[in-house]
Amino acid sequence: MKRDIPVELIRKKMRGRAIELDIEEHFLRMVRQVVEEKSDYVPLDGLCAPTSEFVLDPTGDDIQELTKAGKELLRHVAVIKLNGGRATTMGGRVPKGILKAKDGLTYLEIILAQMDACFWKWGVDLPLIFMNSFFTDAATARIIAGKRNPPRTFIQNQVPRLVEDSLAPLDTGTDEDWAPPGHGDIYLSLKRSGILQDLIRSGFRWAFISNLDNLAACVDPWIPALMENQGIEFLLEVTDRTESDRKGGTLVLQNNRLDLLEIAQVNPAERDLFMDIRRFQVFNTNNVWVDLPALDRILNEGDLKLPLIRNRKNIAGRPVIQLETAMGSAIGSFPGARGLRVGRDRFFPTKKTSDLFVLQSDACILDTMARIRKNPSRAECLPLRPNVFFSSNFVDSPDHLLSRFEDSSSISLVNAHSLEVFGSAFFGRDITINGRVEIKVPDGTVFHIPKGTSLAEGKYP
Ligand code: UTP
Repeated sequence: MKRDIPVELIRKKMRGRAIELDIEEHFLRMVRQVVEEKSDYVPLDGLCAPTSEFVLDPTGDDIQELTKAGKELLRHVAVIKLNGGRATTMGGRVPKGILKAKDGLTYLEIILAQMDACFWKWGVDLPLIFMNSFFTDAATARIIAGKRNPPRTFIQNQVPRLVEDSLAPLDTGTDEDWAPPGHGDIYLSLKRSGILQDLIRSGFRWAFISNLDNLAACVDPWIPALMENQGIEFLLEVTDRTESDRKGGTLVLQNNRLDLLEIAQVNPAERDLFMDIRRFQVFNTNNVWVDLPALDRILNEGDLKLPLIRNRKNIAGRPVIQLETAMGSAIGSFPGARGLRVGRDRFFPTKKTSDLFVLQSDACILDTMARIRKNPSRAECLPLRPNVFFSSNFVDSPDHLLSRFEDSSSISLVNAHSLEVFGSAFFGRDITINGRVEIKVPDGTVFHIPKGTSLAEGKYP
């Protein structure tokens, strides 16, 4: 049954927040799409996994050749970090960029250090730009103020959250009524901020865009050289899917064109097929390279088509939908776009508090380019990063680490394969984890691990 859209209520809400008319119209078009689409699912028949013609996998020799040419091209590259989300998966609801990520530095500070390292290595001051949201802008400004070569920032759009059954704007009277409409919003927000035109006018040809929390995502000169060589206007870095990331968005081919497919777009009945890592072998790292004049052309021609994501949430006890788009799905709008197969060394996401704990540990290091890397002292047979799982009654937010660890960053994971903790454990300082360690504390008891303990592989207490 087709639903009516409470257009006037939505307009009133957006005007109350002084949102410009073109964004109001854009949002109403998104809402109409929700109402008109029979299903939000993309059927898997008719899709196939992309061939090597579509997902490039250059050899070491190719990369060496391209690097030579690429050093010259770096003067035309700008770096953009997606900084609009709050660390909701961590339960923190704070801008992730301000959390201490490694060696006492915040994510934002490490990204600034990466740009400095690029300057020393390549002799180029690459412009750094943060896409903030109304949630993250003020806190980010406090950290970047007064830094050398301060990054530019722009604030992405904001749209109302809608009550699921009526599609009326949520009305709690707080900021929770609003949300940034996903990272796919970058293209429109970049244009509206005037930064896209500025960059093009100043001779910038490519933007490298990535998630703020992926501290392994850095500029590498061979990639723009590859784009230049092959006339590619949009490149999405993908990496091999493993069992643990079989839910990640994958590339598919339809009518000889690439598209990004997210699990949320697949009918639950077809999700096993989607998660078959032998069939769909790569997944999206959200590291994107885009040709800026081509982006401008596609935006001007109205050809940017980003599938809508209905992000369902429960806010103040009410089921709401948050309408979003994903940055990587722009791949379907650029003729001749390609995927680029990269190693895990360009992908180190930190979504959960346990990921943050691994990042802070000695399992990984910041290299001379301030990129996050596997600690070379870690045995080759061990996974790139140890698998760490924290139950919600052990740790459910970064703040909670303080009540469970004397100093979480002092825990040595360099020899750890995995660490699983359930229940009320307390870790003293300088504890070493070896191999596979599982700690399951019975309800009603507390398990204290004294300072300096070396836990051998096994189950505790
Ligand atoms: P995700 O939504 O995947 O992760 O965004 P997140 O925001 O880090 O974590 P959760 O889901 O809230 O726990 C990937 C990247 O895109 C940015 C985020 O800041 C992150 O760097 N992002 C996301 C935006 O810039 N704007 C958005 O509207 C959404």
